[in-house]
Amino acid sequence: MSDRLFIFDTTLRDGEQVPGCQLNTVEKIQVARQLEALGVDVIEAGFPISSPGDFNSVIEISKAVTWPTICALTRAVQKDIDVAAEALKYARHKRIHTGIGTSDSHIKFKFNSTREEIIERAVAAVKYAKRYVEDVEFYAEDAGRTDNEYLARVIESVVKAGATVVNIPDTTGYCLPEEYGAKIKYLMEHVDGIHKAVISTHCHNDLGMATANTISGVLNGARQVEVTINGIGERAGNTSLEEVAMILRCHNDIDIDTNINTQKIYPTSRMVSSLMNMPVQPNKAIVGRNAFAHSSGIHQDGVLKNVQTYEIIDPKDVGIDDNAIVLTARSGRAALKHRLHLLGLDLAQDKLDKVYEDFLKLADKKKDISDDDIMVLAGADRNVNHHIKLEYLQVTSGVGVRSVASLGLNISGEHFEAAATGNGPVDAAIKAVKQIIKRQMTLKEFTIQAISKGSDDVGKVHMQVDYDGQMYYGFGANTDIIAASVEAYIDCINKFRK
Ligand code: KIV
Ligand code: ZN
Repeated sequence: MSDRLFIFDTTLRDGEQVPGCQLNTVEKIQVARQLEALGVDVIEAGFPISSPGDFNSVIEISKAVTWPTICALTRAVQKDIDVAAEALKYARHKRIHTGIGTSDSHIKFKFNSTREEIIERAVAAVKYAKRYVEDVEFYAEDAGRTDNEYLARVIESVVKAGATVVNIPDTTGYCLPEEYGAKIKYLMEHVDGIHKAVISTHCHNDLGMATANTISGVLNGARQVEVTINGIGERAGNTSLEEVAMILRCHNDIDIDTNINTQKIYPTSRMVSSLMNMPVQPNKAIVGRNAFAHSSGIHQDGVLKNVQTYEIIDPKDVGIDDNAIVLTARSGRAALKHRLHLLGLDLAQDKLDKVYEDFLKLADKKKDISDDDIMVLAGADRNVNHHIKLEYLQVTSGVGVRSVASLGLNISGEHFEAAATGNGPVDAAIKAVKQIIKRQMTLKEFTIQAISKGSDDVGKVHMQVDYDGQMYYGFGANTDIIAASVEAYIDCINKFRK
């Protein structure tokens, strides 16, 4: 029988730490349910002590899903563990994930401590967490740069204290695959009692080696991998779930199985990308727009003769269905409902009605409606509670003339109007917004992206605005890119704390 690899998904914790990717509790529940359908074993739902929002999300996710273990992160601090245990009270299967930095630089600069004291704190944290739950995972932060002999002593001590899983994070994404694999092998061979715990990988992608390191860890004995959808996460991200799942699926020579239903990979990827407003790079392995697009003549010729010439994965195996019915203005509510279901969204009737209404308006402007368009429409109500809303926008621009924009904003029920000229239509429109919202704010980043193709396509705009020393992230989507830009700018302003 093949060995089983446990999939620990940290999209909602490490992934969600990415600036601008924060989800509200309802959205996190939506992702958690999709992760359950995908077949992950563990969902890391948050870091409860870090904010009331995280605390609440762990509670609600615990209530919303049944099969996966719900995990909550803590530092090796009693108060963190108390709060995590409280947040996990409704989970059917629960795990506390506690830990501390073990590399010399963490010990010296972060904790101003000693190696022996760190072991004592690690053991104390595991024992304390064991008072609340049976399943305790310990992380040795920066294990990638921790010397193996000391790391083995730490791991041996926490396993003795009752840790059921030991996480070996390459926190800075520094290790080479061979080096990371050798680290896991060293622990397998030198830690007394290691068979009582599962070794987990947790790799970051700073040098583009997260997946390679993870697989190397697995080949050397790790039986849990910590991953995120689309590889999102701090800085260059974490190991991506879809890559690990498909490597194991493609390589029959590695006799290790996961519980992942690979046909749910693509819909899950789209859902996370859409809810987090985080585009997937077009050439991203498995889920990128071009992952299965053959453009060179030689490749096309080969694929037409036999797909195996250039394709190692059948796109259907990851849930990409080229024959999917295209939605148009003539599609009914049932077709939309079915498509939403395939994308992991089961909407209540009133919400479905609203999305259908918006769908028909969009279908009037654009011939074929893509999955991305549908995800944007389904997420459009995220702005309903915004106190500033765009009421109308009119722009005149062209070659050899200065652009002029006039717009109306509704601010908490009151109507305001302004007009401005600018260096291009977006500049004019933003100047008009600034005439109404008189704050010292600076636009720092502005990205426009068409969702798929065609001049009638919906443009997505991401913006970063610096206000009062804090960075705010906004998003807008519209077939009119000037309107999408203004929506993204207003989205930032709506998030200002004061
Ligand atoms: O990268 C890391 O070290 C982490 C730990 C908190 C598990 O995310
Ligand atoms: Zn991490």
